[in-house]
Amino acid sequence: MHAVEITSLTKGYRDIVAVDNISFSVSQGDFFGFIGPNGAGKTTTIKSIIGLLRYKGNIKVFGFDAEQDFLDVRKRIGYSPQDENFDHFITVEQTLLYTAGYYGIPPHEAKLSTEKSLKEFGLWGERKRWVKSLSGGMRRRLLVARALVHNPPLVILDEPTAGMDPEKRREFWGLLQRINQKGITVFLTSHYIEEVQRLCKTICIINKGKILALDKREKLMDDLATQELRLKTDKPIPEGVLAYDGLIVKAEGNATKIIGRNVKNSASDIIIALHKVGIKVKELDLVNESLEEVFLRLTGNADP
Ligand SMILES: Nc1ncnc2c1ncn2[C@@H]1O[C@H](COP(=O)(O)OP(=O)(O)O)[C@@H](O)[C@H]1O
Ligand SMILES: [Mg+2]
Repeated sequence: MHAVEITSLTKGYRDIVAVDNISFSVSQGDFFGFIGPNGAGKTTTIKSIIGLLRYKGNIKVFGFDAEQDFLDVRKRIGYSPQDENFDHFITVEQTLLYTAGYYGIPPHEAKLSTEKSLKEFGLWGERKRWVKSLSGGMRRRLLVARALVHNPPLVILDEPTAGMDPEKRREFWGLLQRINQKGITVFLTSHYIEEVQRLCKTICIINKGKILALDKREKLMDDLATQELRLKTDKPIPEGVLAYDGLIVKAEGNATKIIGRNVKNSASDIIIALHKVGIKVKELDLVNESLEEVFLRLTGNADP
């Protein structure tokens, strides 16, 4: 059984199709990264899973139907929304206690779980403060602490690190990894592609309501990322010496770039071919395309 299983999900608003007949599933225990430019349909997909929107198609969460079995689904999901929706005039501690209450957790258990969550997210010292007095970074952490207060097996985080400074973001990554190591399935949306490349085991790229790529991180990079082999030779390489299918060669004097998929597998052939025509390789460097570059290429340089 999957944590999430989406079949033919379509959702439009008036004249726009925000999500266009997408199907995918998220395995239990996965760290799933859902990336796409602004307006790609990420939040719409998430809101459909949570049961906040009506949609066409089918969504199952741990086998329960997102529309028909709404309560069974909702208690299995921790949700951290893209736009924070706190009551700013209660304390940090009350925020978690009240949320636990909504999920029907008895008060003594709610207290324990609130304490555990606040300590885990470094907010225990702030428990008596009003939410409105917290810094932006603290509020982001509180959103996730609140999402976990009822111990859900799946947590869906819509852009949880937006606006965090780089150091805080790194600390936060550690927290997300610990959550996932406990066996909680993490569904993460982010426009920091580097973050997704670091954290996520599975990556799904969505654009204009359609899925462009979905695979395990390593497989997706193997299939989609190009590599660049940079050579410095003792003399220019004559044209035609490096004519391989699917490889692009760019030469400037003694510096040559060979670009393509799996270039690294051709490196030894290339060196042998050069040796045969009496050219010595002085320097050799292999540069992998990053997920960000793959993303920008697939989505047409859209703003992530
Ligand atoms: N409530 C709404 N009413 C009308 N259009 C909406 C609404 N919510 C989202 N949209 C539109 O649907 C598309 C997808 O939005 P969204 O799911 O928020 O994308 P993302 O989260 O990837 O940025 C966008 O074109 C957006 O403007
Ligand atoms: Mg969004």
